Amino acid sequence: MSETVKYVSAKTLTELGTSLFVKGGLLEEDAQVVAQDLVAANLRGLDSHGVSRIPMYLTRIRKGVVNPNPDIKIENITAAVSKVDGDDGMGFLAGHKAMDEAVRLAGQSGIGLVGVHNSTHYGMAAIYVMEAMKKGFISMAYTNSSPAIPPWGGRTAYLGASPFAAAVPSGNETPYVLDMAMTVIARGKIRLAATNGESIPEGLALDRDGAPTTNASKAFEGVCLPFGGAKGSALAMLMDLLSGVLTGANYGGDVKSLYFDHSEPQNVGHLFIAIKPDLFVSKTEFENRMDDFVRRTKSLPKAQGFDEILIPGEPEERKAAKRLETGIPISLNVIKELEHELARYGLDSLAL
Ligand SMILES: NC(=O)c1ccc[n+]([C@@H]2O[C@H](COP(=O)([O-])OP(=O)(O)OC[C@H]3O[C@@H](n4cnc5c(N)ncnc54)[C@H](O)[C@@H]3O)[C@@H](O)[C@H]2O)c1
Repeated sequence: MSETVKYVSAKTLTELGTSLFVKGGLLEEDAQVVAQDLVAANLRGLDSHGVSRIPMYLTRIRKGVVNPNPDIKIENITAAVSKVDGDDGMGFLAGHKAMDEAVRLAGQSGIGLVGVHNSTHYGMAAIYVMEAMKKGFISMAYTNSSPAIPPWGGRTAYLGASPFAAAVPSGNETPYVLDMAMTVIARGKIRLAATNGESIPEGLALDRDGAPTTNASKAFEGVCLPFGGAKGSALAMLMDLLSGVLTGANYGGDVKSLYFDHSEPQNVGHLFIAIKPDLFVSKTEFENRMDDFVRRTKSLPKAQGFDEILIPGEPEERKAAKRLETGIPISLNVIKELEHELARYGLDSLAL
């Protein structure tokens, strides 16, 4: 069988992303943050939200709907609440600043709530909650995104795939890191399957005419189905209410498509919550209780076909450890798209 992927190191991909974003007009330090976030998604096995997105982000900068040099402003509202204006820059930059602010507020008030408007697509949501977790805080990240799924009973794309992320630190055991889109699978995974000419399983999407499809390209042009039927649709609505309606960002189908609409900035909204873990019990007791919870969970009897019970985030951590050793498999189609961008900006080919 002919080779369909090349293994590339995280370091090479981060350097590639950084130099492309610098050419796109980002400050070196900002370019590095975005590139690291994308490669972190690749490392965790979420290739749909990794370097395959670079050409799309660069196109959006060139089209003038993403500001490469945003003046991100933080406005403090109360002892526990701040507001962030992302100035239409890369969502990653507003996302990190906002989560930092939520952690700062939580440090002083026990809880920090930060609403973001004028942001754009912020990639893998886990990155922000993992950042708060490294600083010892529990956190949640809400975002809205461009229309991908219909509300239950509807047939046109209206609600975003809008991932919800939450992280709870532990003492010595595996921490909890949830990061899940409201679709059965992330829309980006369907896009990547379309780029790679692959089909998708049944039950994930409908085509433009509302018919079920396994053709990834047709699915990408159509609508994704929410996980859990009406319940997934209800949660997708909450993502839009808390990230869009509440924060002052776009909502109700107004966040423009990343790929198909370059008419105006997206004005995506996010909402970050950070919580100090020692609010009700001491920090040591909290960590002991968390470790105990994880051990109890893992020692439960296993269902048929399962050797172990994993904590959310554990599959991705394992994948990251492996990919740091083997390199990250990048499909030839994605490499071709990246080479095209390198050539456009007069940068050296990856020469893979
Ligand atoms: N920014 C955006 O607008 C946007 C939109 C959609 C998706 N995304 C991103 O796409 C990525 C993929 O999302 P997804 O919904 O396809 O994720 P997924 O279905 O791969 O995983 C969802 C969650 O389930 C957990 N999980 C999976 N298998 C498990 C197991 N065996 N045991 C315990 N836990 C398990 C994972 O750790 C993860 O927390 C995410 O990083 C998300 O943030 C971003």
